[in-house]
This record gives sequence, C-alpha cells and structure tokens, in this order.
Amino acid sequence: MPKKVHSGDHTSSAEPRVHQRGSEIQSYGTVTHAFHLELEEPVRLEMTEKLNQLLADSMSLRDLYKKAHWQVAGPTFYQLHLLYDKHFGEQVEIVDTIAERVQLLGGLAIAMAADVAETTQIERPPRGREEVPVVISRLLDAHQVIIRQCREIADRAAKLGDHGTNDMVVSDVLRSNELEAWFLSEHLVNTPLTYAGGEVSQAAD
Ligand SMILES: [Fe+2]
Repeated sequence: MPKKVHSGDHTSSAEPRVHQRGSEIQSYGTVTHAFHLELEEPVRLEMTEKLNQLLADSMSLRDLYKKAHWQVAGPTFYQLHLLYDKHFGEQVEIVDTIAERVQLLGGLAIAMAADVAETTQIERPPRGREEVPVVISRLLDAHQVIIRQCREIADRAAKLGDHGTNDMVVSDVLRSNELEAWFLSEHLVNTPLTYAGGEVSQAAD
C-alpha cells in the first residue's frame, strides 16, 4: 500500500510531487464564459462541438498519412513516401489550428487517440498494408468527409456571426484539404508508366 503523504510534508523539500490526481477543472463539452469574445454561449457551444468533429477527423487523416508514408510500396515509392509526409506535416498544423480555435472559444479540444477513435467518421483502415490505389482512395475519401464538413461549418459560423471560425475553416482547413486532394487524385489517373497506350508510333532511327 503506498505511503500516505500529507500535503504539508514537502513544503521545504525539493522532491517532485509525482503521481498526483484531482478532479477536472472543466468538463468536456462545456465552454467557459469568455465574455471578451462577444459571442453568445450557445454559439460557442455549437461551434466547439462541430470543430471537435472536424478535429477528430483531421487527426485521423493525419495518422492515415503517416501510415501511408510508412507502408507505401511499389515503383512510385519515393515520390509518394515524400508526398504523404508533406501532407502529414500540413495536417499536423491544421489539427493544432482547429484545437486552439476550440480552446479560444472557451471549449475543450478532443486530444487522445481513444477519444478520437470513438468520434471520427473516417473509415478505419486495416492494420496491414494495402495497394497504392486503395491507400490513395482511402485518403481521398477522408478528404471528402472533411471538405464537406468545412463548407457546412463555414456556412453555419457565418450565419451565427462567428466570423473567426468561418475564416479559419475556409482559409486554413478547406483550402489545404482541397489542394491535398487534388495532388492525390491526379495519381489515380490511369496513364502508362513506360509504354504509351493506343497507336504507338516510334520515331525512325
Ligand atoms: Fe519518415
């Protein structure tokens, strides 16, 4: 049984006070008053709930990119390995931007993998390795889920007068996801790698 330590025992000690636990100071799904924002509490509650969904889905997409970066195989390995990691880095930035917007609005950002897993709408991939076109299709599907949400949140935020959320969602999340989706989708165009289709004409020697 651990030795019981009274709070006054270490007042003059340099010992770190480890293994501490306590009650929460704010429950998930609530917002603080944040009067300075001039945004009503119901608006901030609705926005933080929607942004947490977007956050959970963006965290899933971020992790899907790292899985793709590690597990990619085939003749396009090198360029895809680099592209996936570039998009991963951009999603890391996006995740931080969304999470800090939730906190700024007085809410609590979802953070831990288990909570994200319970919340995300992105389809769970297998643990194993899949072919390149399947991986790219999964990534595109995830972008589609996020892009759809961005437009809905931006519309709703504008209607409720939360222009900061509208601007963040459009400028930082929507545009980056649109661009990444374009880069991916071009990889699913069926163009030959080494031999042109149709009528082949070879230059005369
Ligand atoms: Fe890496």
